[in-house]
Amino acid sequence: MAIMNGDSTEIQAPVLHKEKVLDHKNALEVLKNEYPDRDGIDVKTLLDSKNNGGLTYNDFLVLPGYIGFPASAVNLDTPVTKRITLKTPFLSSPMDTVTEHNMAIHMALLGGLGVIHHNCSADYQAEMVRKVKRYENGFILDPVVISPTTTVAEARALKEKWGFGGFPVTENGTLRSKLVGIITPRDLQFHDDASDPVTKAMSTDLVTAKTGITLSEANAILSQSKKGKLPIVDENYNLISLLSRSDLMKNVNYPLASKLPQSKQLIAAAAIGTRPDDRKRLAKLVEAGLDIVILDSSQGNSVFQLDMVRYVKATYPGLDVIGGNVVTREQAAALIEAGVDGLRIGMGSGSACITQEVMAVGRPQAASVHSVSTFAARFGVPCIADGGVQNVGHIVKGLALGASTVMMGGLLAGTTESPGEYFVSREGQLVKAYRGMGSIDAMEDKKAGVGSANPNDPKASNAGTARYFSEGDKLLVAQGVSGSVLDRGSVTKFVPYLMAGVQHSLQDIGVQSLTELRQGVVDGFVRFELRTVSAQAEGNVHGLHSFDKKLYA
Ligand code: IMP
Repeated sequence: MAIMNGDSTEIQAPVLHKEKVLDHKNALEVLKNEYPDRDGIDVKTLLDSKNNGGLTYNDFLVLPGYIGFPASAVNLDTPVTKRITLKTPFLSSPMDTVTEHNMAIHMALLGGLGVIHHNCSADYQAEMVRKVKRYENGFILDPVVISPTTTVAEARALKEKWGFGGFPVTENGTLRSKLVGIITPRDLQFHDDASDPVTKAMSTDLVTAKTGITLSEANAILSQSKKGKLPIVDENYNLISLLSRSDLMKNVNYPLASKLPQSKQLIAAAAIGTRPDDRKRLAKLVEAGLDIVILDSSQGNSVFQLDMVRYVKATYPGLDVIGGNVVTREQAAALIEAGVDGLRIGMGSGSACITQEVMAVGRPQAASVHSVSTFAARFGVPCIADGGVQNVGHIVKGLALGASTVMMGGLLAGTTESPGEYFVSREGQLVKAYRGMGSIDAMEDKKAGVGSANPNDPKASNAGTARYFSEGDKLLVAQGVSGSVLDRGSVTKFVPYLMAGVQHSLQDIGVQSLTELRQGVVDGFVRFELRTVSAQAEGNVHGLHSFDKKLYA
């Protein structure tokens, strides 16, 4: 067809196809009748290791589908064990630079789960489990408490260190000891002699509330009292917890919080090893209220772990046990038969891990996740894709390949809720320590400023050596490194970002829940594409002189 333009030159219409051009109204009909296979490849073809090798997350992409719903309508409910379902698929690793009680509490509040590490004494770990179980939104369960002999100068230094004032003073200087007063920022400001004990400056006209009070009742008392803090005491006037006026405004609800049905308490999960001593440790954790135990081993298919699974199931029928780590069907089958309620998948994919390099053993993570989780699904056993997650895309890929949840170490180690203090790196950036549990530092339990081990009993357990079977060895063979990660702010912002990211991704794929995603992959409805090295380069920022990678606002 020829068209004349303004100066009467003839323009040829573009020839798109040698055949007859079809009516646009028939596009969907033609697609249906003449293209029986959807575009892209199905998961089996993708993970065909004979042709494609062992793939990992960066080696493929998920193809987009049809968006017919808002991202906020995407449901992320997912099982973590046979019996327990979470509202978001995020877990934090049992590592001493990642998960202690503070991380566990916040992960659970945000709908995920933090698995408390075991590189500390059993008592210290049990105390952390107790803190998770006792947590009530708004009540500070481990306030900074000082003793009557603390000086005004020391209290001022504490105020500087913590960034807040208002410390309860108790007879022993600890929680659960008799409350004698509160030293407020104003008391500190106007007291002349800094060498005086705080008892000379503190306020003693206290308004307190009895333990058992609800948050809204306590908030009402705090508002009326015009005080900065409301100490919660037991019948003997021992300090149990504290409510702070500055938190009053922040007492948001956490509608996704991980709780068991009919329970107001957060779900607590912790890791243990498989040595005989770990049975005693487990008894303490169960007494503290543990709901899920993770048997922490880099190679879970061992006589020790199989024995431990049977022991746990026989001794604590109410406790869910997650076995691992595994990367093959054969490893998984042994643990499933022994009775695990969940599996943890990954060997050598962790960001601080050198297992594959040193031991020549392991498997690329995408291949592991697909192989194990498709097998485990036949027995109703949910799987955790553990390690190697660097971004939201990796999370979605792990879930698309069959995992029910993902576990992250390095990605969460730089948050406010992880153990340890921030420090400034040589390059001038704010960082936190992060180390593999099989690093020499962790195996020797060197503290590296991570604030992990029980200060009273730092050598009570070396989870590192337990996890990597090196106990009794003269020479420790490292399977991990020790380093640092960049500051990521608080998980209260970061986890919602991950959640929104996953929801948007599922919206792009065209599935409205994780269940639909899994089913879509099995049915061949959700399609994939392999990614060459140049496709990977194309999919990342390229060609810019400089850029700032800000992930959320
Ligand atoms: P990341 O999220 O990639 O940093 O990986 C975290 C995971 O790495 C953990 O959940 C463990 O499974 C694994 N891991 C922790 N420490 C070590 C180690 O020292 N060597 C190998 N793997 C480790």
